[in-house]
Amino acid sequence: MTTVIKTIPEWVATRNSLGTNTVGFVPTMGALHQGHLDLMIKAKAENDIVAVSIFVNPTQFNNKEDLAAYPVTFESDLEKLSSSGVDYLFYPQYEDLYPDQYRYKITEDSFSKTLCGQYRPGHFDGVLTVVMKLLNIIRANKAYFGEKDYQQYILIKDMVSSFFMETEIVGCPIVRDDNGLALSSRNIRLSEAGKKLATKFANLLKQKNVTAADIQSEGITVEYLEEVRNRRFAAVKIDGVRLIDNIELDR
Ligand code: PAJ
Repeated sequence: MTTVIKTIPEWVATRNSLGTNTVGFVPTMGALHQGHLDLMIKAKAENDIVAVSIFVNPTQFNNKEDLAAYPVTFESDLEKLSSSGVDYLFYPQYEDLYPDQYRYKITEDSFSKTLCGQYRPGHFDGVLTVVMKLLNIIRANKAYFGEKDYQQYILIKDMVSSFFMETEIVGCPIVRDDNGLALSSRNIRLSEAGKKLATKFANLLKQKNVTAADIQSEGITVEYLEEVRNRRFAAVKIDGVRLIDNIELDR
């Protein structure tokens, strides 16, 4: 059974009771799928205790409709956490995490302005701010992030190093379905036809020398397709749902 902890003082008391046990932490926004669960399995293998957070962080949504449409599946999330052997779920409210009403924020001035950052103003400020708050509260030995959100993973890793924070940031490979589509909480919002297009997008991304025009010609709206850091990154819109993916390029 996963113990649900709703307030910071409750978590602090729990954390202090854990003594020398190591803590692995997986921050999420819920609507859990196997991509999230793989992070938890890795955390379980490498730590004595696993803590997960579910918090749909409003400050990272530059688009209010996207926030309103974000899937919430709390009961089934809790079942998945329990059956994955997660010890604690930290499940705070906005007021708990933002007593300052977001007057203070973390901004990165370079990489965060590229790729997704170009199209989602303020997004990475929201991500970095909430992750710093969560890391400071949870005091984990290690925290786990998916390469699905590769830009986010790098920005968090660099933030932790820049601010001399003590949690080690661990990156984990992208989990895909049998047809190659990267698992995402947003996939629930796709129609059957949309899901087929999303799968086509994932497979086109793997093709050598693929261009934005190749993807657009399938009827998919491309936000960007770029190669940096030996990776190919793309964001597209299908059924009005924004999807991202990336692959490592051969060296
Ligand atoms: P969320 O989208 O819920 O993702 C939580 C974690 O799961 C992230 O580290 C993400 O990269 C990872 N993840 C999602 N889909 C994955 C997949 N198919 N394969 C591997 N890992 C996957 O990312 C966020 O939440 C938020 O920005 C957060 C970090 C919690 C801050 O609010």
